[in-house]
Amino acid sequence: MTELTDMTGPATPADPVAFPQDRTCPYHPPTGYEPLRDGRALSRVTLFDGREVWAVTGHAAARALLSDPRLSSDRRRPEFPVPAERFQGIQDRRVALLGLDDPEHNRQRRMMIPEFTVRRATELRPWIQRVVDGLLDAMIAQGPPAELVSSFALPVPSTVICHLLGVPYTDHEFFEEQSRRLLRSRTADQAVAARARLEEYIGGLIDDKAKAAEPGDGILDDLVHQQLRDGVLDRADVVSLALILLVAGHETTANMISLGTFTLLQHPERLAELRADPALLPAAVEELMRMLSIAEGLQRVALEDIEIGGETIRAGEGVLFSTSVINRDPAQYEDPDSLDFHRGTRHHVAFGFGIHQCLGQNLARAELEIALGALLTRLPGLRLAVPAEEIPFKRGDTIQGMLELPVTW
Ligand code: HEM
Repeated sequence: MTELTDMTGPATPADPVAFPQDRTCPYHPPTGYEPLRDGRALSRVTLFDGREVWAVTGHAAARALLSDPRLSSDRRRPEFPVPAERFQGIQDRRVALLGLDDPEHNRQRRMMIPEFTVRRATELRPWIQRVVDGLLDAMIAQGPPAELVSSFALPVPSTVICHLLGVPYTDHEFFEEQSRRLLRSRTADQAVAARARLEEYIGGLIDDKAKAAEPGDGILDDLVHQQLRDGVLDRADVVSLALILLVAGHETTANMISLGTFTLLQHPERLAELRADPALLPAAVEELMRMLSIAEGLQRVALEDIEIGGETIRAGEGVLFSTSVINRDPAQYEDPDSLDFHRGTRHHVAFGFGIHQCLGQNLARAELEIALGALLTRLPGLRLAVPAEEIPFKRGDTIQGMLELPVTW
């Protein structure tokens, strides 16, 4: 805890800035977050509904707080901070894993861990490589040019998570569209409707699987034929677990592939370095994770008063973690705005930290290394097909990324 004593910084906070804000450049934190980068570990920010909450921006404070059981992830608590209007109507809904505190969280997490170990991800690598190669074969046969999000960045993780869960990939357009609405809609009504459609869809899959004489070999089949049958989980638990795995399993990684590719193309020297030395790929993926921090504004509510960084978070106050600012804390990373594969990017919080640290991180790393590696090797002339300023990226979204990425080679 000694490191926390250095985090106080300037004493007088400026007026609270609005949070979240849109990025101005897709791979940098919003310029409107500059006041949050003044050395303080946490600052007051204002949500869309005018409520003031804390934004944690210091790296050491973030890791301390993300592993502090006095912060709750339970979205059903009335004081839980709602970061966007679209989430207003779904706060009272069950959210598996991410929306639970221990011991219930731990009970679910232990059931899932065997499916997401480093070993399991390593076993899947040859299969993921075949998926990636097949998609690139098709893209090369049809192009150039190509739209990389729809032809590659999204199908890679969608195919992988369908295979793992035992969800038919033929339904991908439906669940991708509903996930997009869940994470992008402006209004609560649209997000509530999207969530209801996803729940209904997964409920149907569960009923079909329960009727099947022989279980298939997906995670959902195991949940239905073991945990549900034995009464360890009820049907609503299984629906919400499958929902978070399906949505988190494709949306996040797809955005990392598209935004990661865009960022590399905007840094030609780093790209050349990576092409010359493919052994740098794991370090490059980690550094891109840090720099892009696509999952912004992790949410918690304080259960008790917590003193940290010279401030007191009062019981009942909302706390958001600005991963993009935390991952650029100059006290942790030298020259944090630059892309550097040799900095030994350790301890970034792009996958979170503490008990909710990303369950799918080993799988995501495998997918990113294989997808980016294959893209660079098989398309040595890869470049943007239109000027960078014309490429639409996500604004007002829960997960940052590219809407489209027109490329040629
Ligand atoms: C590059 C891709 C990914 C990123 C950036 C990412 C990011 C994150 C972050 C930041 C958290 C912590 C949230 C919090 O503490 O509030 C998280 C949790 C989680 N992620 Fe990921 N994720 C990625 C890929 C995946 C994949 C592929 C899966 C599933 C197959 C997945 C499933 C989950 C689940 C289930 C949780 C909740 C864990 C818990 O509460 O115990 N994620 N992820």
